[in-house]
This record gives sequence, structure tokens and C-alpha cells, in this order.
Amino acid sequence: MRFLSRNLIGHLRNHAAKSVAATGSVRYQQTATKLASGRPLIANEPAGPAIVTKTIPGPESNRKLQELSQIAETGSVQLFVDYERSLGNYLVDVDGNTLLDVYTQISSLPLGYSHPDLLRLLDDPNHVKAFINRPALGAFPGTDWTDRLQNSLMAVAPPGLRNLCTMSCGSCSNENAFKAIYIWYRTKERGGDTSFTAEELETCMHNQTPGSPPYTILSFSGAFHGRTMGCLSATRSKAIHKIDIPALDWPMANFPQYKYPLEEYVHENQQEDAKCLEETEDLIHKYNAAGKPVAAIVVEPIQAEGGDNHASPEFFQGLQQISKRTGAAFLIDEVQTGGGPTGKMWCHEHFNLPEAPDIVTFSKKMLTGGYYFKEEFKPPQGYRIYNTWMGDPSKVIMLEEVVRVIQRDRLLENVNESGDVLMKGLTTLQNQYPQHINSTRGRGTFIAFDGTNGAKRDTIVNKLKLQGIHSGGCGDKSVRLRPALIFQPHHANIFLNKLETVLSNL
Ligand SMILES: Cc1ncc(COP(=O)(O)O)c(C=O)c1O
Repeated sequence: MRFLSRNLIGHLRNHAAKSVAATGSVRYQQTATKLASGRPLIANEPAGPAIVTKTIPGPESNRKLQELSQIAETGSVQLFVDYERSLGNYLVDVDGNTLLDVYTQISSLPLGYSHPDLLRLLDDPNHVKAFINRPALGAFPGTDWTDRLQNSLMAVAPPGLRNLCTMSCGSCSNENAFKAIYIWYRTKERGGDTSFTAEELETCMHNQTPGSPPYTILSFSGAFHGRTMGCLSATRSKAIHKIDIPALDWPMANFPQYKYPLEEYVHENQQEDAKCLEETEDLIHKYNAAGKPVAAIVVEPIQAEGGDNHASPEFFQGLQQISKRTGAAFLIDEVQTGGGPTGKMWCHEHFNLPEAPDIVTFSKKMLTGGYYFKEEFKPPQGYRIYNTWMGDPSKVIMLEEVVRVIQRDRLLENVNESGDVLMKGLTTLQNQYPQHINSTRGRGTFIAFDGTNGAKRDTIVNKLKLQGIHSGGCGDKSVRLRPALIFQPHHANIFLNKLETVLSNL
């Protein structure tokens, strides 16, 4: 087991440390923590991957796919999972293959599969009632709803944000955050008056101004904010998501495209930041002048679906300043980055923003969707940001437990420690196999690297699967790692070991 050898780990640490020291850059360097992480976090987890079929998906997955395709569109189905047998970091498929899952349901499992503390929740009869009586939360919240929110979402709220709205998924969180922003923007334009004119009430029924104002949202090239009708106009990652769907004329600025390794291209990347910031501000002025006021800038702290594109803290600080200067709200979409995978609860905490963003949306690892917001974004009337369920108390009960486990097991430290092992190992592998992979980047375990082209990336992901590693792709040529927060350094070593096997046989 090459990556399990102590000497080699020492070598890898030194190697990465040396290359960082040589260049003087520490921008993406994680501080190694002293977590006593030799202790497995999940009892009885498989010792490693085990593959029993020649292909993945195997015959049983393919049979089930045939069945399902009689009634559903299955173009996105990868394999069928045996959730009874999946545990911790390991996904077991219906063919009996045990895969180390570094993709975890598109980054949405905070504690892996069947975490014992989550299973125990069902032993409490009060929880069972909460699980079966799903309320219309906006109208009939249960006795303990406020306490539940305080113990879960509010206990880990981004610094400076004390207001909250729950929703059911990432897209509807963004969709409703956009609405909250429009309401805020219009109320500002009315000088704080919260009443409406007869004309506004009449024209909105015909989708006309002034009742339906022509506000816009600025997003970035490569962005992904969801596939619902409004969000889709802000999504810019892949044509297949947008094709054939009517879209709004919203501005798109270029997201910085950095050259790697970062430490070799500090100057070029700073220039790239400046260029993109200037373009963003120009676009806002242009749209404002054209009668299509930009009500918000929406941005992911790491563009995930679009290819794990990073930007510097200075870029995000610059965006916040632009939002202040132009009167547009600053919305950070933490649907994929939120909940701890970057080594902090919220990725934007890495950016040293002088004050909180106006709105932060979340879903995935937070188990429920929703958004945090500044007080001024609370709509002045009820039912304006609303839907029947507005989330689900059962998910918030689970999140309460997840937050407790994150703190008890010091999982953010674990993420940083495992991320450190991954970054160092991947850096070594990219130096060893530059003909196959490059551009390793990440924070915590939210890490990606590129194949030299799209076909190479697909080959790596497929061959990794046959080695027992379930990873994912993003963008045109990136492999993304999205393990659960319980992914430990020994899992990282298994992953690196298998990746080396794949790369050395390409
Ligand atoms: C940054 C970001 N925003 C929004 C979404 C949409 O979330 P959902 O798929 O839950 O609608 C995603 C999903 O991947 C995402 O990564």
C-alpha cells in the first residue's frame, strides 16, 4: 500500500511543504491539525473497496435500469445502490460492489451512509411523529420549531447573519432568495414605503411594469445556480441545462480563470481578478442605464458544477465592494460548498469579507434548503416568500444531530487533515504523471484536479470505479472530490493509492 507507508507520507508532506516554501505562496495551503484521527469515526466500516463485477454498473444495476427506463427518463442514472448495506464512506451497489465514495450523492451526505447517531434518532417516538406529520411550515409550525432551528441552522449560521428562511432544495433556495432581493430592491426604490399603488397591483397581473419591474441578476461564466426557470437564467455552466428553455436577459460577467500552479502565476492571476471585477462593475452600470437594474450579484465561492473554479479572497472582497457601490445585493450561493467540506462551515469564511454577504443560500450537506439573510431582506408582508412545505422538520431534526456530531467529533479539523493528505498526495501524483493530470486545487476536502482533456478525465473516473472509488466529474475535464465530513486520512490514502494504480496503467 504505497500511500500508507509512513516514510512516503513523510516524503509527501516534505515535498509539498518544500514546493510551497520555494514559491512563498500559502494561499491554498491548509494548516495541518493535530487531530487524533487514527481512530475510525464509523465502527464496522469496510476496510477498503471490494469489486466483484467486471463492469460497473454490473448486471443487476443494468437490469434495474431497464425496468426503470420503462417508466422514467434514466439518462442520468449511474448505478443502483443498496442503501441497506452502504455504511460510512462506503457505498455498496446492488451487484455487491463496495466503493469508497468520494462523491457522496453529489456532495450531499454530511456524515456518510447510515451514521449510527442518525439511525438512533428514529428510536425516539417524538421524532417519529415529526417524521410522519409533515407540516406546512410557513403556516403551522410545530411546538419546537424555533428551538429546532436555533439548535441546528442558527447554531452554525454564517457570522453576521441572524435571519433564516427554510426551503426544500438548492434551486428553490436561490429562486426565493432572488425574490427576497427584488422585494428589498423595490422597497428601497420606494424610499421604504411598503404599500403598493393601484397601477402596480394592476400591471403585475399582466406581467408588465411597474408592477413587474425589469430587474436583473448578474452571474458569472461557468456558474451553476440550479435548473428552475429563474435560476436557469443565472446558470451558465452547460448548454444542455439551458437549451430550449426561455431565459431572461441577465448580465453575465467573466469568472476569473486562473493559471496553475497558483504560486507561479501570482501576477497574472491578480490581473485576471482586476479584469473580471472591472467587467462586473461596467456590466452593472450598463444594465442599470438600459433600464434593467441589476438587483443582485450571485456567485458561488467555488464554482462547482462549472469545473471547481476558484477565485481569490480579494476577488470576493472586490465583488462585495461593487455591490455596495452599485446598490445590488451580494448573494453567495453555498449550496455545494456549505456545511463544512472546505474546512470551515461556510466557504466564504475563507475570504475575510469585512461584513457578511447579504444572503447565503444552502442545501445539500445542510440536509434542508434555505437561506440566511440580513434583517433588511425580510419581506414586509406574509406569503410573499412562501410555499406549502418550506422545508421539512424531519431534515432539521437530522441536521441538529449532524451539527452535534460535527462538533463532538471535530469533523472540520478532520476535513482539514484529510484535505491536507489529499492535496499533498495529488500534488505529487500530478508531478509524477503530468501527461495525465494537472491543476490540483481545493480547500478542505473540496478538491479537484484536471485530466489533460475531457476524454482523459472520463477514463480516469471510469477506471477509478473499477478500482473501487466512486468519484465525479465537473466542468469540461475535472475530477471532483466531495467526500463526507467523516472521510479520514486513511480513506485519503486508499484513494491516492487507487488513483496511482489508474494513472500508472493509462
Ligand atoms: C452551487 C449550486 N447552487 C444550486 C444548486 C441547485 O441545487 P438543487 O440541485 O438542490 O436544486 C446546486 C446543485 O448542484 C449547486 O451546486
